[in-house]
Amino acid sequence: MKSFHDHNKATAKGTGTLWHGRDPAIPLSKNNHLLRWVEKMAHLTQPATIHWVDGSQDEYDTLCAQMVEAGIFLKLNEKLWPGCFYARSDPSDVARLEDRTFICSLSKEAAGPTNNWEDPFKMRRRLKELFDGSMRGRTMYVLPFSMGPVGSPMSQIGVQLTDSPYVVVSTRIMARIGLPVFAEIDKGEKRVVPCMHTVGAPLAPGQKDVPWPCNKEKYIVHFPETREIWSFGSGYGGNALLGKKCFALRIASNIARDEGWMAEHMLILGVEDPQGQKTYVTAAFPSACGKTNFAMLIPPAGFEGWKVWTVGDDIAWLKPDAENRLRAINPEAGFFGVAPGTSARTNPNAMATLSRNTIFTNVALTPEGGVWWEGMTDEPPAECLDWQGNRWTPEIAKQTGAKAAHPNARFTAPASQCPTIDPAWEDPMGVPISAIIFGGRRASTMPLVYQAFNWSAGVYMGATAGSEMTAAAAGTIGKVRRDPMAMLPFCGYHMGDYFRHWIRMQRALSETPSIFHVNWFRKDSKGEFMWPGFSQNMRVLKWIVDRARGRALGKETPIGWMPRYEDITWSGLDFPRERFEALQACDRNTWRAEVLGHEELFIELHDRLPPEMVYERELLICRL
Ligand code: GTP
Ligand code: SPV
Ligand code: MN
Repeated sequence: MKSFHDHNKATAKGTGTLWHGRDPAIPLSKNNHLLRWVEKMAHLTQPATIHWVDGSQDEYDTLCAQMVEAGIFLKLNEKLWPGCFYARSDPSDVARLEDRTFICSLSKEAAGPTNNWEDPFKMRRRLKELFDGSMRGRTMYVLPFSMGPVGSPMSQIGVQLTDSPYVVVSTRIMARIGLPVFAEIDKGEKRVVPCMHTVGAPLAPGQKDVPWPCNKEKYIVHFPETREIWSFGSGYGGNALLGKKCFALRIASNIARDEGWMAEHMLILGVEDPQGQKTYVTAAFPSACGKTNFAMLIPPAGFEGWKVWTVGDDIAWLKPDAENRLRAINPEAGFFGVAPGTSARTNPNAMATLSRNTIFTNVALTPEGGVWWEGMTDEPPAECLDWQGNRWTPEIAKQTGAKAAHPNARFTAPASQCPTIDPAWEDPMGVPISAIIFGGRRASTMPLVYQAFNWSAGVYMGATAGSEMTAAAAGTIGKVRRDPMAMLPFCGYHMGDYFRHWIRMQRALSETPSIFHVNWFRKDSKGEFMWPGFSQNMRVLKWIVDRARGRALGKETPIGWMPRYEDITWSGLDFPRERFEALQACDRNTWRAEVLGHEELFIELHDRLPPEMVYERELLICRL
């Protein structure tokens, strides 16, 4: 076998072109596996140059400047939006594509009926064809990243090869990248997950590039046994920032099942009471159902002395510690948050976080060089350019219904800039978890809050959770679908086995976290939200924390424990008893239909459903 140096001189020795005093083509790692893989992939994809990412500020600034030069980025008004950039995606590349996402386990059974499966050998052949020459005319970036603080025993490492500089700068916000990660890799102690990514738009010599290159054909592929990710054709969000959903959820859920921990689509927050006692909880809501907002909650009037601290807004890795207490880390370092609806009124912490050093994608651009989106201010700007670059005015919107920002427009902002970031958010051992909350977007049936009787009833509650679909994924918006633990698009193996893993996890724990369900989205007969939501969710959160600490009362109902009107702290809000009772109503007939709805998914999963799910269902039916 030829040595690395003989094989590709340009890579090994560099191109001689200096870039901030270094030649980016010279490898920043001595790990032979990595060097050989990079070489092999360069051979396959044929990039014009290779750039080993060191992760420095200088490198970030230069890449952003190059993207401004190339028309990929627009620099926003430095006075209004310091350090911020603006990008517009291709109109066909705006959200996750669930029907182009594949789990290619050796057996179809292992992926289960909720995932798209393809024979891994067939898929590899297809990917070879797709990636062949796919980076021609572009730079291939070697982007090392750590999910979780570098060096934490709970962290995992990956290297993404990508031809998208947008992905490189976004990942610098969303994860820990660069030299410290190469140093971890060179220690050789941790397995590295290889992540291949191309936008699938090679450039012929002299061909002019477009601002958002992508391919009509898209593939987001996971090989769980070999822990590999291959993504082709998209540059957007979870399709392209491979550390996020692909690694931290789909691949990590496989690793976690094998190693006895959990990778979940959950926010993590800490509630500090007026005595200074802190209680950490996690919450799993489907995409665009309020995780970022809940994670950054500011307690309303009436909650003086209470504080909510943010640990993470999208993903949690949970693991029993040496004392068998469940602890969680946020594997990410930034927020890739939904812009529409985010405002100083609904989420001032998010507004402060995104006020600087942020990348905005598919929001509207104001004439002053600022950004705007639906819901950001009560008064829309008199005029702006919409997410596709067309002139937009409130009048045009009234006539045509055109949105200034795409409903899945996002901000990419450093977590460290969040005013309520928890002092322990980067603790390598994570934070102790006392309660787990499930939730979704349900116009009817689901009360504001209730508590499961115990862990297995809680697993059933999570497993049967449903939600109306949102713009975060391509599909029919508004349709209720079962989304177990908010993981339907993210669980990298058979959902029945995943429930079994949840059931088993409790046996490893010395203390069982309490499990709850919330629904901020119940509507009245006029179609209006019955609950004010946002900061008022603190009232629900306080009951949850008090229940988890064994200091609040509730009443037993067929579906679980519920707060009575007098169990909720109402100071600072005039919310009549009858409205609360309507919000909490658990109607037996509606619930019969709901339980039949649980069947939809359970029939599909039947072969591998743990017995606890069947018994819990029977018990629920008996109680109803
Ligand atoms: P992903 O990043 O896609 O995983 O989403 P997320 O769960 O973090 O969703 P996010 O917090 O960004 O919320 C998305 C939408 O839900 C926004 O339009 C919010 O305005 C809306 N929302 C959040 N919390 C509430 C609430 O308490 N009540 C109501 N009515 N809407 C809410
Ligand atoms: C989600 O859709 O749940 C997200 C955004 O958090 S993305 O990273 O695009 O998946
Ligand atoms: Mn998410």
